[in-house]
Amino acid sequence: MSTLTRTRRATARAHVNIALVKYWGKRDVALNLPAAGSLSLTLDRLHTTTTVSFEDDNATDALILDGRPVGPGVLAKALRVVDPLRRRAELAERPVSIISDNTVPTAAGLASSASGLAALTVATAAACGLDLAPTELSALARLGSGSACRSLFGGFARWDAGTRADGIDSCARPLFDQRHWDLRVVVALVSSAKKKASSTDGMGHTRATSPYHGAFVGSVDADLDAAEAAIGARDFSALARVAERSCLRMHADMLAADPPLAYLRCQSWRVIEVVRELQASGAAVFFSADAGPNVKLFCLPESLGPVREALASLVDEGALEGTIETRPGPDAEVLP
Ligand code: DP6
Repeated sequence: MSTLTRTRRATARAHVNIALVKYWGKRDVALNLPAAGSLSLTLDRLHTTTTVSFEDDNATDALILDGRPVGPGVLAKALRVVDPLRRRAELAERPVSIISDNTVPTAAGLASSASGLAALTVATAAACGLDLAPTELSALARLGSGSACRSLFGGFARWDAGTRADGIDSCARPLFDQRHWDLRVVVALVSSAKKKASSTDGMGHTRATSPYHGAFVGSVDADLDAAEAAIGARDFSALARVAERSCLRMHADMLAADPPLAYLRCQSWRVIEVVRELQASGAAVFFSADAGPNVKLFCLPESLGPVREALASLVDEGALEGTIETRPGPDAEVLP
């Protein structure tokens, strides 16, 4: 069989990650190079499974996401990852077929683009027969979506901003694996509807108009070192302090944009208020929230009971659609 008629197909899975030190702002939009580093935890139950194939009967590049063909914008994002890999494998002329399924509502601020682009990178490299180092895969995933570079790794990962103009040194690296610390993460689902402004657009708008942006970016390095030290020492209250600070500084930067970007809703603030009440009663819990209204609660296993109970009341009140309980998750991988 010639190379051109051989079926090349692979399936991979990658998990969502939530940033504890936030990425918000780019120094290079085309290459998704960040203005500063970031640090995240990968989650177990929220993931994307993606099959990539280069087959003779593929007429054009196509991406089916959660059972539906995507529009040109989403396909173009995926091709930012596929193109360099198929060129390298001398398959540049071959249309790609991508079938991708999320366990999370797509684009609801639950980072499905991170797991999606990471799964796509791993599946495409495998379908192309390329055996690449995880950090190289991470830099490729970054081309699709910045935060995707962190989803290559299970447990805690740190994305170094890098200094090179070509972005080769801007990739994530694993810090501590999924067994390092038995944290629980509960997603408080304020809304599973698609968010209004994409992170890419939101970051561009914030950088162009927020007078706080330089201050946010300038505060990240210290937060990265503090978070890494807190995680290494399994110091929950130190991690809580830096993670809440990083999250709120990012939202302050967004709110200072003109016109302002308000991703959090009154229900999101209600959840944050409940976290403050839980903390006052001695629970080991803190919050984080990204470019959407949902709030993520990180807690120690012994505080899961009170967290569950408090969120269940919010579900009863109608303030939340529901909750999703997760734990630290694994590396991205090729599935058999
Ligand atoms: C708020 O990685 O989705 O979740 O690089 O433009 O694709 P692009 O943005 P994306 O931004 C994520 C922003 C965030 C914070 C974070 O995950 O660090």
